[in-house]
Amino acid sequence: MNTKESDLSSILNHNRRHPRYLIATLQEIQSREGYLSSEAMLEVAGFLDMSSATVWGVATFYNQFRFTPPGKRPVRVCLGTACHLAGGQLVMEAVARELKIEVGGTTEDREFDLDRVACIGCCALAPVVTIGTDVYPKMTPPKVEEVIVELNPPSAHKD
Ligand code: FES
Repeated sequence: MNTKESDLSSILNHNRRHPRYLIATLQEIQSREGYLSSEAMLEVAGFLDMSSATVWGVATFYNQFRFTPPGKRPVRVCLGTACHLAGGQLVMEAVARELKIEVGGTTEDREFDLDRVACIGCCALAPVVTIGTDVYPKMTPPKVEEVIVELNPPSAHKD
């Protein structure tokens, strides 16, 4: 049994074996693993005696769950009201384009992952992006391109 399997079995043994504990179980797995793998969801389905379709349906209903491993540097685009009104959606599209991933995804090299957040409390700087612990204020699509190229220069890629 590898470490992941033993981690998962300790989570499953620790949680109650009843469908009402599905979300708590998924939350605990994500908190330990950083995401929900399809293997983990299959194990949860077996443990709770539920269909895998039901587990998948519940997990995908909630925004809190992610299904790809997290990147080293989480990129978060604020889409709270102030940021949304200041062009947050265009900024999000630019980040997704530059990283070549969708919201909830992780770059192939696992360097970055992308998600939206609600207000992070610095609306005067809207629209805001955070990368790791750094805050990037008043973002625009061209600034997104600059920042991503600076953090992840094309020479760092093999292709
Ligand atoms: S809405 Fe984005 S920081 Fe407040």
